[in-house]
Amino acid sequence: MSDETSARLLERAERLLPGGVNSPVRAFRAVGGAPIFIRGAKGSKLFAADGREYLDYVGSWGPAILGHAHPDVVKAVQERAEHGLGFGAPTELEVQFAEAIIARYPSVEMLRCVSSGTEATMSALRAARGFTGRDVIVKFDGCYHGHSDGLLVKAGSGLATFGNPDSAGVPAGVVASTASLPFNDESALGELFAREGSRIAAVIVEPVVGNMGLVPPQPGFLERILELCRDHGAVSIFDEVMTGSRLSAGGAQGLFGMNPDMTCLGKVVGGGMPLAVYGGKRAIMECIAPLGAVYQAGTLSGSPLAIAAGLATLERLDAGVYEHLEAMSSRLQVGLERALRDANVSGVVQRVGSMLTLFFHRGPVRSWTDAAQSDRELFGRFHRALAQRGVYFPPSQFEAAFVSAAHSEEDIDRTVEAARAALEA
Ligand SMILES: Cc1ncc(COP(=O)(O)O)c(C=O)c1O
Repeated sequence: MSDETSARLLERAERLLPGGVNSPVRAFRAVGGAPIFIRGAKGSKLFAADGREYLDYVGSWGPAILGHAHPDVVKAVQERAEHGLGFGAPTELEVQFAEAIIARYPSVEMLRCVSSGTEATMSALRAARGFTGRDVIVKFDGCYHGHSDGLLVKAGSGLATFGNPDSAGVPAGVVASTASLPFNDESALGELFAREGSRIAAVIVEPVVGNMGLVPPQPGFLERILELCRDHGAVSIFDEVMTGSRLSAGGAQGLFGMNPDMTCLGKVVGGGMPLAVYGGKRAIMECIAPLGAVYQAGTLSGSPLAIAAGLATLERLDAGVYEHLEAMSSRLQVGLERALRDANVSGVVQRVGSMLTLFFHRGPVRSWTDAAQSDRELFGRFHRALAQRGVYFPPSQFEAAFVSAAHSEEDIDRTVEAARAALEA
């Protein structure tokens, strides 16, 4: 649903920015709506340009785990800004931040800060290729790892599909060494390793997928990835840009007790600022310049403002916060499941911690093939009906909703009531 103020702003924006936006999903094209322009936000609420208030389940696409404009995070950024916005030289803050990450992620022995999740995954893959001296990377259909050329590969049908760019402007040659396999399919992965194992530099995976809607790993799937990588000398990479410090203080790997070779972080660890991380085993990270021959650099990398926001956020993520997130998210899941049953609508709510998706699909959704069978038309109607009732849900069937520490029982109950009405509308 769009208000008149947003409609006017969109008209101006569309003349200047492709689709009127700076990132495509913000255009609401997947739900047949028009974007709501935002003036500000506080806690669990977003304030639209026309003054309307929405309960927010996008959370800036994940970073706002403490709720919007948390006073401690705002104060940390304000205080740092007084001392200069950046120096292009090392600071003690970066050391503190690296210590904070390494304390929470035992698999990470050394790391580098970058400015976006896209940069983190792109750089991790370059490091893995430099370390192994191999070219092939393996990803999974429906997992998104940012928009670098080598990762924009069409979901393949059947077994491994090499080299089908998913976007115009990506040379076929660039993705010729990217294989995409079905998520949760151990045998497809085993077959690929049996055939191509000596050419595989890395396997990159979202350990809990958020980018085809919320899809958890089947028992044993992640373990199999680590095992095959170990046996064949390939690098395992957990892309925890979305799950990192959200599913637990140590991300999905902390939740499952796993030890990948490399990890990518973003979103939450940057506290809402442009900050991301790639890191892992010392031997791999020592391949990065200036220690090694793998080049990677960034003018704004480790920005003191971003690090200040990230540290302030990490410091507040204690056990009590994760308990609250679990309680609120489970309340939302149960409420939505009841609402679906009462409205006699076919759907399934999939959730891990504070990430959740209502698929208009009988379920369970275990892969991109399953997710793609969801009723997107119905999701679009549901999304518009929720917005009319003051609830801002992710504008795509294939995105996860995020609950924040600022969401209260009252917020969740209001959301469930809105969902009930939206399903019956
Ligand atoms: C799992 C995952 N990896 C990488 C990215 C890319 O991050 P960014 O948008 O900061 O470039 C995203 C973005 O949503 C993501 O969810």
